[in-house]
Amino acid sequence: MIEEILPPAVRTAEAFDDDRPAPLFPEEEELIVHATGKRRAEFATVRACARRALGELGLPPTAVLRGKRGAPQWPGDVVGSMTHCKGYRAAAVARADDVTTIGIDAEPALPLSHGTLGLISRPYERAMLARLEDDAPEVSWDRLLFCAKEAVYKAWFPQTQRWLGFQDAEVQIGTDGTFTARVLEPAPNSPDGYHGRWLTRDGLILAAIAVTASPR
Ligand SMILES: CC(C)(COP(=O)(O)OP(=O)(O)OC[C@H]1O[C@@H](n2cnc3c(N)ncnc32)[C@H](O)[C@@H]1OP(=O)(O)O)[C@@H](O)C(=O)NCCC(=O)NCCS
Repeated sequence: MIEEILPPAVRTAEAFDDDRPAPLFPEEEELIVHATGKRRAEFATVRACARRALGELGLPPTAVLRGKRGAPQWPGDVVGSMTHCKGYRAAAVARADDVTTIGIDAEPALPLSHGTLGLISRPYERAMLARLEDDAPEVSWDRLLFCAKEAVYKAWFPQTQRWLGFQDAEVQIGTDGTFTARVLEPAPNSPDGYHGRWLTRDGLILAAIAVTASPR
């Protein structure tokens, strides 16, 4: 499903449950010794997805550890992103020569809990959501905004090694399955925005960003 909103240079793998055995490397085991069974299962399944996706790039199985602020650590010439939510796990990877950064996020297609929208949105975005809700009330637009913003952060952080808060970027959602994000005060040499795509199906919302590398 996630491959539908990513370019072909990005290789993906996904799972809708934790039923397939997903062995971990010892150094991955160390990261979740104190985790609950649920966290352990999603952690392991998404790493099995990551190894399948890396295999599609011709790479051998490798541990996917957590680096600064939790960002996944990929082999040297690889960029990628992972997500897990109830009923969905996915990984997306590409060669850094082809793609500069990737950010993917999945959410249940349900309205945000009371009070969350005010924390994660800007005034422009709330006005946009009101219009979208009038046009297509069947879509959980507020959750889609949240999902798109988390995909933005997952693309942004590996590029900049810097925090980006929900108020630090403004997202415009298109009804055509696209979105754009504008970073409001980008530092010199930081990205000033992203283009992404979204999809909602089978009770899930997915958002994905892949920045294609410029030819050298
Ligand atoms: C990091 C964050 C985006 C994760 O999103 P989430 O919906 O909670 O969780 P998901 O299951 O979708 O994603 C978890 C995966 O994100 C990845 N991730 C975590 N921190 C990351 C970071 N700093 N950079 C990139 N990817 C990161 C990891 O692969 C993680 O998987 P793991 O825990 O198994 O290693 C979220 O917790 C967060 O901190 N958000 C605040 C920042 C933000 O979204 N700003 C909006 C800017 S417009």
